[in-house]
Amino acid sequence: MCGIVGFTGTTPAAGFLLDGLEKLEYRGYDSAGIAVAENGRFQIEKTVERIKNLQNKTNDGGTVPGNIGIGHTRWATHGVPSIANAHPHVSGNEKFAVVHNGIIENYMALREELIADGVCFASETDTEVIPHLLAKYDNGDFFEAVAKTVERLEGSYALGILCSDAPDTLIAVRKFSPLIIGLSENANFIASDVTALVSHTKDILYIEDGEIAVLTPSGVSLYDKNKNEISRATSVINWDVEAAEKGGFNHFMMKEINEQPNAVRQTIESRLHGRDIVFEDMKLDEEKLKTIRRIDIIACGSAYHAGMVGKYVFEELLRIPTNVDLASEYRYRNPITDEHTLTIIISQSGETADTLAALKEAKARGSHVLSIVNVVGSSIAKASDDVLYTWAGPEIAVATTKGYSTQLSVLYLLAIWGARLLHSADEQRLEDIFDDLCRLPELMEQLLQNEEQIRLLAKRCGDPSSLFFIGRNIDYAVSLEASLKLKEISYIHSEAYAAGELKHGTISLIEQGRIVLALACNEDLFEKLLSNVKEVKARGAYVIACATEGHTEIAKEAEEVLYIPKVDPLLSASLEVIPFQIYAYYVALYKGCDIDKPRNLAKSVTVE
Ligand code: G6P
Repeated sequence: MCGIVGFTGTTPAAGFLLDGLEKLEYRGYDSAGIAVAENGRFQIEKTVERIKNLQNKTNDGGTVPGNIGIGHTRWATHGVPSIANAHPHVSGNEKFAVVHNGIIENYMALREELIADGVCFASETDTEVIPHLLAKYDNGDFFEAVAKTVERLEGSYALGILCSDAPDTLIAVRKFSPLIIGLSENANFIASDVTALVSHTKDILYIEDGEIAVLTPSGVSLYDKNKNEISRATSVINWDVEAAEKGGFNHFMMKEINEQPNAVRQTIESRLHGRDIVFEDMKLDEEKLKTIRRIDIIACGSAYHAGMVGKYVFEELLRIPTNVDLASEYRYRNPITDEHTLTIIISQSGETADTLAALKEAKARGSHVLSIVNVVGSSIAKASDDVLYTWAGPEIAVATTKGYSTQLSVLYLLAIWGARLLHSADEQRLEDIFDDLCRLPELMEQLLQNEEQIRLLAKRCGDPSSLFFIGRNIDYAVSLEASLKLKEISYIHSEAYAAGELKHGTISLIEQGRIVLALACNEDLFEKLLSNVKEVKARGAYVIACATEGHTEIAKEAEEVLYIPKVDPLLSASLEVIPFQIYAYYVALYKGCDIDKPRNLAKSVTVE
């Protein structure tokens, strides 16, 4: 995820900028840059290598003097990692320089408007519309130009902006992307998180969504979205650098669990034009979609589990037969596929060796390959006919959470988009599902409030030798992911079982005190699942159930119930998985496991 720093003070800026960017390296990046202003001129340095390279290039900042500047680590979204796409971006007249974290969702329309005005673009980024808009609205008042520009932006953004006419003023804006302000006697700072600030100041001013901050060396003024000045007390932080990297959480995994609402919001909203779902530049169009007779979803690990959910959603909404395959199996099966099969490849890293090999097999046989990938410019993204990115930002914990959740979001978007074109589902239901999809981030936020209940539950359950997850249909697909999360990080044997299959084997393993986690969020199959719960209860199981709010009857059978808000059952996976991510986290925590780096596992499996 991109990182931002900014400085205005009575001493040179570059030292802080380079040091701050180095502190933000942990967020993941593929290029970086700084702009320092002196005598009304910007000096810009960029790299597609490490921050070390920027330090070397500038002789540790010595070649870019000036007491005001901005810096950025870029994690590519729109446009490949390159010098041209690296920030800061400047207006054509070189009066404004901008660093940005987030996604400008209406950038295509803005870009067209600016091109029609005669603007030339130097990069492929969504960000570059911002300096050009600033120049468009410039009438000599820096603040006004920013306010007018921000009014035009849809999406998420944290911005650091310089104007060559305002030699000591740095303006910062924020909406749905992180940004904080640091205060000190002779300088004021902006940064994406406290990591970049802790060695310079402990005094922090939090800027809220929609607010604009004007920083000079002597002070900071805050304005609300109506341009009224507001006052806010500063906070003092006592985190060290390590705690700051994790945003105050003890582990990246918990940080990333908490980042899910925003990651999902970003993934969904960046494809919406009102109620329309728009996939820019997608070759799979209505005509091609109508020729598709089968969908093959291929992936590994959690991405495969997201694909399992996708199968149920696609078959229900598109009425197109959908297979889900493990990439390591598919690639060696001499698979049968052709131009009437849509192959959907899912991969967080975009580098998983088996998944890439499976993609090549499908493509060689003429199938249209659409990939759902988190890393821009990754091998899988490059090899695909179409790519839909999940805007999760870099995931650091080995056990994926926000990667999985954003994969689900893209699958939902694709299913609704396709069903609208094919008229393959009831129109009213589709619109209701669309409404629920838009509510998911908010409902995820609500669910995250239940962390304490789940922590206590995990503590009570201790360290069982083995446990089972059961569910039917999508609940089964989520069981697979919940079970994997638990075993990955806590090293407890766990198995996910389709509840209807219990009696064909697993039930022989149910004995007194065996923990069974029963996922019962599928309303249509609730009674069936309830019967399975009774079966395991009768054999002594300790049942922890997950059900939708209102289904209190399950509390009569289960020892513990975790409730999730009611949404269309096709979307329930996105909510249902959250309590189990938290459960796995706390079970592992109480066992003293290395949560972010579990033994024997790698984040990106680039070998077979
Ligand atoms: C590894 C990771 C998993 C991930 C799987 C597939 O096993 O630990 O979290 O689900 O690879 O990775 P991909 O990057 O292709 O989604």
